[in-house]
Amino acid sequence: MSSTPVSSVAKIVTSIADLRREVHIARGHGRRIGFVPTMGYLHRGHVSLLEEARRQSDLVVLSIFVNPTQFGPNEDFSRYPRDLNGDLAHANSAGVDIVFCPEREALYPEGYQTFVEVRELEHGLCGDRRPGHFVGVATIVLKLFNIVQPHVAFFGEKDYQQLQVIRRMVRDLDLEVAVVGLPIVRDPDGLALSSRNTYLSPEERSRALALSRALFAVQDRFHAGEREAGVLVDAARGILAAEPEVRLDYLELRHAESLAPVSGRIEHPAVLAVAAFVGKTRLIDNVLLRPL
Ligand code: PAJ
Repeated sequence: MSSTPVSSVAKIVTSIADLRREVHIARGHGRRIGFVPTMGYLHRGHVSLLEEARRQSDLVVLSIFVNPTQFGPNEDFSRYPRDLNGDLAHANSAGVDIVFCPEREALYPEGYQTFVEVRELEHGLCGDRRPGHFVGVATIVLKLFNIVQPHVAFFGEKDYQQLQVIRRMVRDLDLEVAVVGLPIVRDPDGLALSSRNTYLSPEERSRALALSRALFAVQDRFHAGEREAGVLVDAARGILAAEPEVRLDYLELRHAESLAPVSGRIEHPAVLAVAAFVGKTRLIDNVLLRPL
């Protein structure tokens, strides 16, 4: 691995052809390409992915693209937060080599009509509440993989279903990329970091803590030996119900890999996933339940 100094200045690339050229040269020199796709407005969660990419690869590529095809018609595409200067500062301090920020027209030119469907995993949980969302995610991630041609790509467990969708797509389509999933980065009070947290008022933010509080309470009970799915889900539901301003979208216990619903006794690693509206903002969070 090369020893690229941290705080070097990342190269900003906007055209697909330029990006391909850079990566082609690096690959020709036998360098391992690490890739972190994002929609920008970077926070410590994204930075943790970039830092791991830096550790595991020789050339670190960060993409910043607010992907229109993964937003529903009534969702926040047009007001999704953007801050390229802030993102570049994070990218530089994490030692990113290339920041790829393509225009919408470059990725979805006039006449675009090809989409990727991961048939089963894209349903349930967020998939049912956000129809078409994971088709948009799988499509853009496949396109970005084809452009960047990474050896390894890094994703957060924060978007747990997304991570499983991408793992499945990579397996099903024989893509030559290793997918690394990394743990959720939280604020010290437990709130999972998200670009969308910027929408929350201070009061909403403190109400939003009910999500992580409920999930951690369940994780504690699991580690204390409770294995009954119904008991654990009810415990979380009770904590969330105590915060009436938090409007539950779903709270579900699923198999950690297949995402099949879990009921009865938990025999395999599971994920407890929650989505809730706090005011107008939809937040997601999850914890893994697996024996320590
Ligand atoms: P975005 O929401 O910007 O997230 C980019 C990556 O950062 C994802 O892999 C996400 O899981 C990870 N991430 C976000 N918050 C995190 C946290 N608190 N801790 C750890 N990792 C975190 O996810 C997307 O963008 C898009 O769907 C994308 C994959 C880029 C396709 O458009």
